[in-house]
Amino acid sequence: MQIKEAKYETTAVKPEQYPKRYLPEVAWVGRSNVGKSSIINALLYRKSLARASATPGKTREINFYLVNEALYFVDLPGYGYARVSQAAKEAWGRMIETYLQTREQLQLIVMLVDIRHAPSNEDQVMYAWLAAQERPSLVVATKLDKIPRGQIPIRLRTIREVLGMAAEAPVIPFSAVTGQGRDEIWRQIEGVIGL
Ligand code: GTP
Ligand code: MG
Repeated sequence: MQIKEAKYETTAVKPEQYPKRYLPEVAWVGRSNVGKSSIINALLYRKSLARASATPGKTREINFYLVNEALYFVDLPGYGYARVSQAAKEAWGRMIETYLQTREQLQLIVMLVDIRHAPSNEDQVMYAWLAAQERPSLVVATKLDKIPRGQIPIRLRTIREVLGMAAEAPVIPFSAVTGQGRDEIWRQIEGVIGL
């Protein structure tokens, strides 16, 4: 897709604060620091529209980005960030869950995992939930530039096995540094949303 315009629209911690416009939404989920904000920037060809940071726990609210006046990218806070209180973790969990379970115009959920590591227990729980619900979802393996080329197949296989993915469910390798995988992810988004 050609990006004509991409802009930050709003930040929400509860449903009353979500955008009022009814446009298709694509949500990005995954562990803290996996690269959710970075992939949004990469797909929109913008350096720092979504705030990315080497410090985990950077995104603490739900941020909505309006793309071409046609759809929203929804940047969710990451799960699994150890250095916050239990109460804060539960609040984040509820915030993510409420959005994912109640947002009618949510059309695609993209789950990110780090290609270097086997998915965590939380990733497994997240994926099991995704696979059981009705909406389309997609797994992206990020930070592709950090592993040698030869290791890609085995890493992808590990991710599929640990998440218990069906044979036909895709895992797309992606790097926010090189942009590799960007076109394939856009194709998937366009396929689901019908752009
Ligand atoms: P939270 O907001 O804390 O949940 O994190 P996030 O998932 O939004 O991660 P973010 O995009 O902020 O990226 C975390 C760190 O990983 C940053 O230092 C990024 O520069 C780096 N990073 C993200 N994607 C890639 C990638 O594809 N390759 C490399 N080498 N680094 C990446
Ligand atoms: Mg973030």
